[in-house]
Amino acid sequence: MESKVIDMETLIKKVDSEHPDERAMEEAGQLIAAGELVAFPTETVYGLGGDALRPEAAAKIYAAKGRPSDNPLIVHIADFSDLERVAREIPPQARKLAEAFWPGPLTMIVWKSDAVPSATTGGMDTVAVRMPNHPVALELIRKSGCLIAAPSANTSGRPSPTEAQHVAEDLSGRIAMILDGGPVGIGIESTIIDLTEEKPMVLRPGYITPKMLSEVLGEEVVIDPGIIAADDTRKPKAPGMKYKHYAPKADMVIVDGQENAVVDKINELVRQKQAEGMKVAVIATEETTKRYDADVVLCIGRRSDEDAIAQHLYRILRECDELDVGEIYSESFQTPRIGQAIMNRLLKAAGHTVLQV
Ligand code: TXA
Ligand code: MG
Repeated sequence: MESKVIDMETLIKKVDSEHPDERAMEEAGQLIAAGELVAFPTETVYGLGGDALRPEAAAKIYAAKGRPSDNPLIVHIADFSDLERVAREIPPQARKLAEAFWPGPLTMIVWKSDAVPSATTGGMDTVAVRMPNHPVALELIRKSGCLIAAPSANTSGRPSPTEAQHVAEDLSGRIAMILDGGPVGIGIESTIIDLTEEKPMVLRPGYITPKMLSEVLGEEVVIDPGIIAADDTRKPKAPGMKYKHYAPKADMVIVDGQENAVVDKINELVRQKQAEGMKVAVIATEETTKRYDADVVLCIGRRSDEDAIAQHLYRILRECDELDVGEIYSESFQTPRIGQAIMNRLLKAAGHTVLQV
């Protein structure tokens, strides 16, 4: 299907993230109901919303993002009962997980009902569903009277937006409205769990860990082997995970190891690149920031505060592009709880280039 991107005036509306203005939310809801696209904050990243049950809205989303149309969208709901509209049947695990984690940063994959057009699911028989934990997102769903299909509101291939400004950079002139509810809380996309497999399977790591999921389910939760492989030998099951994502323009190398060794190695590499006349950036934690001699040192947060690291990651990757550096060296952030989710994004940004010291 061919769809054109129309240049339009994009309205940017500031809304209070706890108590969004009623009139602004009504206006945004009407736009969605009329088949237009509205970007909105969620607790994970900003989403680009359209009516999930209208194929034309899905086509508009793909066109605005420049996203391949075989990459399915997540359907956002505001009430558990809405799951019945989009799922052919509700697996018992979905009830347990919803009870524990919805609204929240968890997406569940279930068999889809006929109500969901295949344009929304990229031709798949399954559908991804999430109830976001953000007053603006929930209010937008309610005011629109629709279920809202929403991928992250970035141009395909760029880091997901964690601030309204990032959405404006990527999508201004291509969508009707951006609801600006300030910076998001979590900063990386939801955990995706597939409930159509024999064993529940995590297709994308996120804030909700496999351990948390298996504790609630009382059964083993497996991780899609395709997201761990650094090569192309195994395809990830979530189509979006196979695309080169989040990659900054500059080459990026992750240096992993004991703190002092990492600092020494990165400084040595920086000196080499600078001798070649290159501008170099380092992504570091607060603990080590002052120890680097690069052109730019970007501080991602305290190493002991993994929530802050997740929250700042995409903004920092975007900053690397703006600074126009030739090479980026990053520390590794294998933090205890969400390190797997953080490293999944960082490894993609670095094209899986890791230097062990
Ligand atoms: O936190 C989030 O999930 C954000 C916010 C806006 O809710 N949304 C988001 O959507 O990250 P998106 O489209 O950027 O990523 C959705 C991922 C893609 O990798 C896609 O391939 C996968 O979910 N996905 C969607 N439906 C699927 C399905 N039926 N089967 C397998 N993977 C699916
Ligand atoms: Mg995305």
